[in-house]
Amino acid sequence: MSIRVFQLLTVRLPAALEDEVMGQLYLAGTLGCEARDEAPGRLAIVAWFDEVPPPELLAGWAEQGVEVVGVAPLAEQDWLGGYRAQVRPFALGRGFFVDPREPDEAAVEVPAGRALLRLPARTAFGIGSHESTRLALELLEDTPVAGCRVLDVGTGTGILAFAAEALGAASVTAFDIDPVAALVARENQGLNRAVVPRAPRFFAGEINALAPSARFDLLLVNVIPAEVAAVFAELANRLSPRGRWIFSGVLLEQEAELTTNLAPLGLEPEARHEEGEWVAVRFRRV
Ligand SMILES: C[S@@+](CC[C@H](N)C(=O)[O-])C[C@H]1O[C@@H](n2cnc3c(N)ncnc32)[C@H](O)[C@@H]1O
Repeated sequence: MSIRVFQLLTVRLPAALEDEVMGQLYLAGTLGCEARDEAPGRLAIVAWFDEVPPPELLAGWAEQGVEVVGVAPLAEQDWLGGYRAQVRPFALGRGFFVDPREPDEAAVEVPAGRALLRLPARTAFGIGSHESTRLALELLEDTPVAGCRVLDVGTGTGILAFAAEALGAASVTAFDIDPVAALVARENQGLNRAVVPRAPRFFAGEINALAPSARFDLLLVNVIPAEVAAVFAELANRLSPRGRWIFSGVLLEQEAELTTNLAPLGLEPEARHEEGEWVAVRFRRV
């Protein structure tokens, strides 16, 4: 794979010249610029170019008070490629083993008693390396899932939906506002037929896309509370009587407020797991 090399031009200038200099940089074909304060009334601007910027751009700047610090090459980094090269299979919860490598990699030996989930580390969130996913999955393993109708809100890679299927859910519906996530999750099901023979019902969209009559016995929500606060009531209404809601993606400092906000919806906390600054709480409809 060829590595793209950018040319980074750095200049220092009086703040009053920012608009003028930015305008000239764009006319000269910059891919983008970033300005940062250096001192009161002084700025530095770093501008990205595909080629060394044209000398005529720099020519008249000194007399305007713009100091050209230099032009330096910067190789594009394939961040995801580097990350992928480092990822290794790992045990998750009591009963799962995640292989985040590409599907064409050699098979790994799965420890006895664990179910293999192949979840290539790509763009969608949720290969189990983040505390919030781990905590949600651990609570899920502690929850009676067999026979439940499960709704996975913000499914990402589909990891929690697959775990719920593997744990014997009667049905699993899963959605994500990110359309890429829903596609990735469907692809991932194809990689995991051995453990998840029946595909969860994946869709891209929001809670209001569900049939008005759809009800669930278990909600899986690993989403930062602020991102779903507007639909707390709608989600709670989807729960069957005595239904459960596993809420992860919660910082310890947000737990009390979350509990207070869900109480008027008839939800009481009944179990929790925490790790570092994160907590997952299981609520029950009373
Ligand atoms: C932290 S990730 C969780 C992914 C996976 N379920 C897991 O446990 O690792 C949160 C996901 O929720 C999605 N999301 C955020 N707000 C949402 C909303 N209001 N409705 C549905 N999905 C949402 C994001 O696109 C993202 O994929």
